Amino acid sequence: MPTGTDLREEIERLRKERNAVILAHYYQTPDLQDIADFVGDSLELSRKAADTDAQVIAFCGVKFMADTAKILSPEKIVVLPDMEAGCSLEDSCPPDKFRAFREKHPDHIALTYINCSTEVKALSDVIVTSSSAETILSQIPDDQPIIFGPDRHLGGYLNRKFDRDMLLWPGVCIVHEAFSERELLKLKAQHPGAPIAAHPECPPTIIDHADHVGSTSSILQFAQTFEGDTLIVATEPHIIHQMEKALPDKTFLGAPGADGNCNCNICPYMALNTMEKLYVALRDLEPRIEIEEELRLKARRSLDRMLEMAA
Ligand code: 13P
Ligand code: SF4
Repeated sequence: MPTGTDLREEIERLRKERNAVILAHYYQTPDLQDIADFVGDSLELSRKAADTDAQVIAFCGVKFMADTAKILSPEKIVVLPDMEAGCSLEDSCPPDKFRAFREKHPDHIALTYINCSTEVKALSDVIVTSSSAETILSQIPDDQPIIFGPDRHLGGYLNRKFDRDMLLWPGVCIVHEAFSERELLKLKAQHPGAPIAAHPECPPTIIDHADHVGSTSSILQFAQTFEGDTLIVATEPHIIHQMEKALPDKTFLGAPGADGNCNCNICPYMALNTMEKLYVALRDLEPRIEIEEELRLKARRSLDRMLEMAA
């Protein structure tokens, strides 16, 4: 196994040889973000996956993101460095239970967060990401009943903001759920005047203190424009890498968990991907995402609706 500079050079060589594009989410480690052709939030990564000319997509993110790439670009080979890179939200929403939930509420449409399985996408009407949810929800008539899953915090945030009463699936992101309001307030007291930017997957106890709430990309935009020199960031702390690159003179502090530091908020699923596993995935073109065609076409409908409505 090559290491250090050799490993990076080997990944570069394989990327060319395979005609591959490397896509990475902001929650990946800095080495993976830096070697990627494109780093983005879930919506941007979906768009890149749909538009790329490359023959291979090496997806440095979690499985539902790589699945989305395959649903949108079935003719491409999509590899995920570690097939175990799942998501607590996807795990919280087994397709059979979701189907039963839908059947109990036949007059409701299913607006579903992209952090779910392909089977749940196939059972949904419209997919949303955290950056497209508000635009999409605002296009749905007020009197249309909606079920929203699997993230009850994002759904609750949208209900409060848009004065809706969507029925919520009870899933949570274990990463954003781990922030501590008490420790956040302590940190805020140590840095008076520092704004707080939070992801809508956070519970309301965190959101209530935020000066800005939005997707990873929108938090990054806020970081470019906030006044002051210190920002408290209530989302997975690897996003701070992009902030420190763009604004080296400012200070970015990850919001703490109950133990007072932000390391407990590292996504354990995202952390499974490494440079070594990316190298192996490009070398062997495995582990590869495969989706049965009928299921893919059903899931594609709700994703296409998202891409149209988010435009
Ligand atoms: P976004 O990057 O779309 O905000 O998603 C956050 C997330 O939790 C991805 O798993
Ligand atoms: Fe899932 Fe949360 Fe990790 Fe995103 S950060 S992949 S929502 S567990």
